[in-house]
Amino acid sequence: MEVSATTSAPRETGADTVAVALFKDERPPHDPDGALGALLDSGEAQARPRHLAHVHVDGRRWVLVGCGSRSDFDVERARQVAGAVVVRARELGTRTLAWEVPHHVAPSAAGALVDGTLGAAYRFERLRSEPDEERRGPDALIVCAHDDLGPVVSAAAVVGRAVNTARDLQNEPGNELTPTRLAAHAEALADELEGISVEVLGRDELVQRGMGAFSAVAQGSYQEPRLISLCYDGHPSPAGPTLGWVGKAVTFDSGGISLKPGAKMSEMKFDMSGGAAVLGAVEAVARLRMPVRVLAVIGATENLPSGRSVKPGDVVRAGNGTTIEVINTDAEGRLVLADCLAYAVAQGVDSLVDLATLTGAIVTTFGSTYAGLMGRGEEWLDALAAASQASGEELWRLPLHDDYDELIKGTVADILNAVEARKAGSITAAQFLARFTGELPWAHVDIAGVAYERGRAYAPKGGSGFGVRLLVELARGVAAGTPPGPRPDRPPSAS
Ligand code: BES
Ligand code: MN
Ligand code: ZN
Repeated sequence: MEVSATTSAPRETGADTVAVALFKDERPPHDPDGALGALLDSGEAQARPRHLAHVHVDGRRWVLVGCGSRSDFDVERARQVAGAVVVRARELGTRTLAWEVPHHVAPSAAGALVDGTLGAAYRFERLRSEPDEERRGPDALIVCAHDDLGPVVSAAAVVGRAVNTARDLQNEPGNELTPTRLAAHAEALADELEGISVEVLGRDELVQRGMGAFSAVAQGSYQEPRLISLCYDGHPSPAGPTLGWVGKAVTFDSGGISLKPGAKMSEMKFDMSGGAAVLGAVEAVARLRMPVRVLAVIGATENLPSGRSVKPGDVVRAGNGTTIEVINTDAEGRLVLADCLAYAVAQGVDSLVDLATLTGAIVTTFGSTYAGLMGRGEEWLDALAAASQASGEELWRLPLHDDYDELIKGTVADILNAVEARKAGSITAAQFLARFTGELPWAHVDIAGVAYERGRAYAPKGGSGFGVRLLVELARGVAAGTPPGPRPDRPPSAS
């Protein structure tokens, strides 16, 4: 979709449909022929969030969309409202959509209208033999505002497109998006974008370097694993910090010998969502030429049962020397991440964030609303909280505690990869990861519940791209000197 900004009024653009925000206890500020006021007075238009009503004036459609009360109009609300408009625009056959940006809203909310529109217009059509015309959405978006929103709009479009690229990677089936193909995507980014370099390790190199945890997961599959390191260097000073971003990219998780039940197993193609989000975020920060340095490490492999597979009871040694008893081969994500985190630490990063569809327990806990946040370093976790607030990608903190170390204590090795009793599923997974993070500030984001089938208007089905915006805002915060945000272990209303 083409995206542009203008200070002209919507009726001076070529748009066939104009979206206008309606706030509680307000009237539309610009009203062509009084038609919008009439829509409101008749009760057809309402300020209730995402409520839609439209009318034809001057040969265009004007869509009034409910936005709730002005004081609640944050980036997430803006994104959802924009998504609702696209759903209606698609039904109306809209080709060019104009958004009349409401007066006095934050530039970030205007940006969210853009990325919400891009998100809702997204379709994964690559594997259809014929494009579905009925599902075709608008081809162009024009953002109209009294102020020049050009830079805000184009930055939001960059991020929105990177989110959609992450969703493309997520939605690709496992037979198409193999670890090798994911690495090829990273290599293409490094080729295209200034400031990015890439290094890819294969099976033999993982084994040679002693990454026995990652390679144990990969050993059951014919597909070659890939450890992908992408470095984006936009920092003005070589002495500046390096952010370590680590992503789980299990391109298909069958559970291995501890085979998963058949129901919904196909969803496990999405088990590479952490890696996809990291790749999308690196792409966005590089396109925006943000003044930060990032080392992204993505562990890509399949997890399959075969005569070569790692078995329950096997003991493997991770790259940092820790020995791990593989109690459950379906707890493969933490094995992959163990070696990726230790690798990032060894490469000299100054802080860590990992994104992973790590546990079913986080889905039980938070559904598709929050990602789970765990880790160490209160200042760093505050920086995550600030990024969460700025991006609208909500996190909720869970604690770590020495007690949980008892649960993962090994019987014949240092640690277990799973807790038989299924106690504290998400926390014990994080407690496991902690062993591979050195002493660095580290945030673990468990995205199993939010990575796909999220049911938001801007990402209803398939991959959601969750995490791209979060990491972009984290980079923005780091570049600006990380203002502390409210802690996510309290309700937003109480902060
Ligand atoms: N990829 C799964 C976690 C998952 C579950 C993601 C549901 C998305 C939706 C992960 O590899 C896994 O299988 N975790 C196990 C760990 C257990 C065996 C300790 C789980 O959560 O059941
Ligand atoms: Mn698994
Ligand atoms: Zn998994």
